[in-house]
Amino acid sequence: MSTPIAIIGAGLAGLSAAHALHAAGLDIQLFEKSRGSGGRMGSKRSDIGVLDLGAQYFTVRDRRFADVVAQWRQRGWAAQWSPSLYNFSRGLLSHSPDEQERWVGTPRMSAITRGLLGDLPVRFACRIAEVFRGERHWHLQDAEGVTHGPFSHVLIATPAPQATALLAAAPKLAAAAASVQMEPTWAVALAFDTPLDTRVDGCFVQEGPLDWLARTRSRPGRETQPDTWVLHASSAWSRQHLDLPKDAVIEHLHGAFAELIGCAVPPSSFTLAHRWLYARPAQAHQWGALADADLGIYACGDWCLSGRVEGAWLSGQEAARRLLEHRQ
Ligand code: FAD
Ligand code: NAI
Repeated sequence: MSTPIAIIGAGLAGLSAAHALHAAGLDIQLFEKSRGSGGRMGSKRSDIGVLDLGAQYFTVRDRRFADVVAQWRQRGWAAQWSPSLYNFSRGLLSHSPDEQERWVGTPRMSAITRGLLGDLPVRFACRIAEVFRGERHWHLQDAEGVTHGPFSHVLIATPAPQATALLAAAPKLAAAAASVQMEPTWAVALAFDTPLDTRVDGCFVQEGPLDWLARTRSRPGRETQPDTWVLHASSAWSRQHLDLPKDAVIEHLHGAFAELIGCAVPPSSFTLAHRWLYARPAQAHQWGALADADLGIYACGDWCLSGRVEGAWLSGQEAARRLLEHRQ
């Protein structure tokens, strides 16, 4: 058996790379700090069912991504979502239909990364704290002090701030990752026993604390009871209220929601708040992926491209391509 390749992070970028390397006949080993795959494209279990608190949907612009999304659809991992879209601007809620195709994982966002993971080897609940090189190979140390290895290459597929520390052995790559600022997002789920009397399925919000809101039951495969909504605060509001207690975040965002949704909003029967510290890169980049091919260390993630689901998948493909190219 060949020396495996370590991949840190089982979000879409890490799994995209894992798939490509596995398909090329290489051994890989994934490490993930959470208990499941998906990262920001994951789904959270709750008392009222599974909630998509991170990525809400994705769009497709790149031909290669279009091909893979068609495969996901065939496998039942993804479906088109055609919401009744609204826009809230200057105090007005208005219907805002468009022609854009939007996709979601089915029956939950994490179905896609779970499908991609399949039988690939992964260690969950394993936070990698350090990546270091011995004479010939790479080794990883986790937060419990356990060392993993040897590995022929290391591919880091975490958000940029977390990648910076893990890239210490490749200072140029570490400096590039350190230059990426990532913005936070507060996410809140609200559930109502009596369905809200509105046609809104999703709404882009241009002012106030909110940025986006969506009705869970409007998405394929999510006929939830009670009527559940996911609200996202804007980057600016989230940054300004980073350390606000969850109860206060829920109160603020519930209030903003009730003011703009245009129908009666009763007290919610369930609430949940989640803070995404590294939700989105402040700017898009055109790096594809970061590579020090001579050392055998790579980094990928949405922050290397568009800061969207599509960017994460493409970046994982690019990291794998560069690694395979250098091996030849
Ligand atoms: P991640 O999903 O962050 O994966 C990185 C993984 O690495 C995580 O699983 C993490 O746990 C793991 N990890 C980190 N550090 C370590 C470590 N030290 N050791 C081991 N594991 C580690 N995109 C869209 O296209 N459309 C949207 O509507 C949309 N909405 C969004 C809403 C929110 C609130 C958020 C947060 C994101 C949204 N996005 C959206 C962006 C999209 O989710 C991301 O672009 C994409 O999921 C990023 O994938 P990734 O693999 O690059 O990173
Ligand atoms: P998209 O093409 O649907 O939306 C891009 C942007 O165009 C929207 O943010 C919105 O401002 C505008 N827009 C699109 N359709 C509209 C309509 N019908 N009416 C009014 N405005 C409309 O999707 P794309 O480009 O794939 O972007 C993904 C979405 O994910 C964006 O909304 C983005 O803000 C969001 N996102 C959120 C993150 C977070 O942390 N909250 C992180 C990354 C992405």
